Amino acid sequence: MDTSTVDIQAVKSAVEQHNDVVRRRRRKHRIAIWSVVAIIGLAIALPMISYTSHWVGSEAIAQEAGATTNPRSNYWRAVKEGVSGYSAVSGQESNVLIQLNGTGWQQMRDGPIATKLPWLIAGVAGILLLFHLFGGRQKLDKPRSGRKIKRWGWFDRLVHWITAISFIALAVTGISMLIGKNLLIPLLGKAGFASWAQFSLQAHNVLGPVFAVGITLMIIMWIWYNFPTRVDFAWLKSAGGMFSKDSHPSAGRMNAGEKIWFWLLATGGVVVCLTGLAMVAPIYGIVLPPWADILPWVSGSRADMQQANLLHGGLAIVWTAIALGHIYIGTAGTEGAFEGMASGYVSEEWALQHHDLWAHKMIEKGKVIESSENAGTAAAAQTANG
Ligand code: HEM
Repeated sequence: MDTSTVDIQAVKSAVEQHNDVVRRRRRKHRIAIWSVVAIIGLAIALPMISYTSHWVGSEAIAQEAGATTNPRSNYWRAVKEGVSGYSAVSGQESNVLIQLNGTGWQQMRDGPIATKLPWLIAGVAGILLLFHLFGGRQKLDKPRSGRKIKRWGWFDRLVHWITAISFIALAVTGISMLIGKNLLIPLLGKAGFASWAQFSLQAHNVLGPVFAVGITLMIIMWIWYNFPTRVDFAWLKSAGGMFSKDSHPSAGRMNAGEKIWFWLLATGGVVVCLTGLAMVAPIYGIVLPPWADILPWVSGSRADMQQANLLHGGLAIVWTAIALGHIYIGTAGTEGAFEGMASGYVSEEWALQHHDLWAHKMIEKGKVIESSENAGTAAAAQTANG
C-alpha cells in the first residue's frame, strides 16, 4: 500500500468524524428549540383545558336542567312570581315575600304623582297671585251701613275651622312626606328633615281622622244649601261676575262656585278620607268586620293599600290646588267674606252683592240687625234669630 492511499483514507475518516459531530450538534439544537416551543405551547394550552371542560360541563348541566332544575332556583323563582309560602311572621300576606305590583305602584308614586302633580299647586298659586295683582279683589260696591245678617252659627264655624286648619296641616305634612326629601333636605339638612318627616307622619295619621269627621259633619250640615238651582247656570255663564266689576249675578244662600266646591269635597274629599282611613286603620290595629268588605280599599291587602295610596296622594294634591282658590276667595279675594266665617255675621251690603236672593229673603223675614258694632246688639241679634 503506497503512502498516498493511506492519507486519503485518513482524510476521509477525519471528515466523516467531523460531519458526525456537526450533525449531532444540530440535532441537539433542534431538540432544544422544539423543547422551548413545546414548553411555551403547553404553558398556554394547559390552563385552557379547565375553561374548555367548564364550558363543556355547563352545557351539559344546562341540558340536564331541562329535565331537573335546581330546587333552590325554583324556590326563588316562585318567590319572585309572588307565590305564597310559609313564614313564621303572622299577619296578612306575610307568607308572600315579594309582591309583583309593588314595583308598578312605586314607579307611579315616585313618578307622576311626586314629580308632576305638585306643580299644579304652584301653578294655581301663581295664577291666583297674578289675578290678585291685576285687580282681582271684589270690593263692596256700597259703603257699609252697619246692618248685619247672621250667616253661620257657632257650630258651623267650629266645624269649618277645625276642618280648615286640619286640612292645611294635612296638606303640609302630606307634601312633606311625598316630596320633602328633595325640597327640605337642602333647607333642614338630613337630620333635621328626618325629625320633621317623623313628626309629619305622626301628625298626618292623627289629624286625618279628625279631618274625616269634620268633612262628614260639613256634608251633613250643608248639603241642603248646595243642590243646584236654575240661577246657578246663569251664575256660571257669567263666571260669577269675576270679570265685570259692576254686575253681580244672582245667587241664593250659596252661589254656583261654592256649590261646586262643596260637591268636590263631598266626592273627591270623601275618597281622600276613605283611602286615608284604609291606610291608617291597620296602624291603629283596627280590623274591620267582614261586612265592611263591600267598601273599596279596606281589606288591608297590599294591592288595596297601593291603590288607596295612589288615589289618596293624587286626589289630595289636586284638591289642595283647588282649595287654594277657595282660600283666596274667602280671604283676600272678596271683601267681607272672611268676617262671615269668623264672626258668623256678614254685612247687609255683602249679602246683597253676592247672595241677593238669600239677602232679600232674610230682609223680608226681618233677620237684619241694625247695628252689630257693640256686643249688646249681637246678643240681641242672637235672640232675634232664635
Ligand atoms: C284658611 C283656609 C280657609 C278659609 C279662609 C276659608 C274661608 C271660608 C269662608 C269665608 C266661607 C264662607 C263663604 C260664604 O259665606 O259664602 C267658607 C265656606 C266653606 N268652606 Fe272654607 N275656608 C278655608 C278652608 C276650607 C277648607 C280646607 C275646606 C274643606 C276642606 C273648606 C270648606 C268650606 C265649605 C264646604 C264651605 C261652605 C261652602 C258651601 O257650603 O257651598 N274651607 N270658607
